[in-house]
Amino acid sequence: MAGIRICGTGSYLPDNLVDNDAYAKIVDTSDEWIRPRTGIVTRPIANGETTWRMGAAAGRRALEAAGVDPGQVGLIVVTSVTPDFLTPSMSCVIQQELGCPGAMCIDINCACTGFVYGLDMARRYLATGDVDTALVVSTEMLSRITNYADRTTCVLFGDGAGAAVVRRGQGLYGAHLAADGTGYSLMFCRQPLPPSPFTHNPPQPDEIYARPEADGHLVMAGHEVYKFAVKAMPQAVEEACKKAGLTPGQLDWVVPHQANIRIIQTAMKNLGLPMERAWVSIGHTGNISSATIPITLDEMVKAGALHPGDRVAMVGFGAGLTYGAAVLEW
Ligand code: UT7
Repeated sequence: MAGIRICGTGSYLPDNLVDNDAYAKIVDTSDEWIRPRTGIVTRPIANGETTWRMGAAAGRRALEAAGVDPGQVGLIVVTSVTPDFLTPSMSCVIQQELGCPGAMCIDINCACTGFVYGLDMARRYLATGDVDTALVVSTEMLSRITNYADRTTCVLFGDGAGAAVVRRGQGLYGAHLAADGTGYSLMFCRQPLPPSPFTHNPPQPDEIYARPEADGHLVMAGHEVYKFAVKAMPQAVEEACKKAGLTPGQLDWVVPHQANIRIIQTAMKNLGLPMERAWVSIGHTGNISSATIPITLDEMVKAGALHPGDRVAMVGFGAGLTYGAAVLEW
């Protein structure tokens, strides 16, 4: 199967930046705790934006950067755990906003690994020849599901969107996508159940229903997820490299999911790679779930860090628990 070429990237970050001191005013925390434990200094929080509007803005910028007319897009994949609507899909809303008539529209929820899954899915549609141009948009408004009374989660998350225009390419490619569903209850947000005239029994209790605070809010066993991430990230990169015919040592760049600077440092160490080969944006973005990887990629493009022929690994992990990596030639 052919590889892929990322022809253009774009991102959108709200300009409402919230620093660590602002959290110290609402929960028992401090910049002294947050900064060294997570690497986060400030994060953008939506202030009037919606999930789809941020996604559309990032998508438009990616199309402009690629010099691609919206009418040429044959597939839109949108990844999000924080859509504005349960239906219609974010991809349909973004399709009409950008003007991509007739494009196939798919939303996927693979949590923070979403962009990697979305990219790989796009590659498969491109490889069949059914689609010539795909737009992958990852857009998240974590503030929509954040419990601002819970210091163990609220300080971590931000809002924003990133996007990439993807076409078939000649360069090498390998991906490893996986999940461990036994960890489903380590990070979750329950869809509140409205009362119904035909329902007399409460929902069946299970680990998820037993946590009423998870109604509409994310709860997380942070330390357990941390332990999972530092193993899953290097494993995914190694497997993806193997499929691409590379060793991790041949990578020029690792574009990691930005959840915690310590996770990135440990993953790089476990891969035997110096930190200089990872791009870190978490200080000014926080964790924006599936959007962090394309936002980081766009930042790298704008900084002129990526050169033709560079071997780039994108790697994520998140709720599910999902994890995965895609390796490609820039
Ligand atoms: O996209 C994937 C999403 N998942 C993640 O990003 C989770 C990955 N996990 C992490 O990044 C880290 O586990 C955290 C940053 C969430 C927590 O760091 P940690 O070093 O694993 O801390 P911990 O959970 O072991 O907690 C240590 C202490 C606890 O106090 P006690 O029980 O030792 O008295 C926590 O209550 O730190 C306390 N704590 C805080 N203190 C001040 C937890 N959050 C805070 C806070 N401010 N915001």
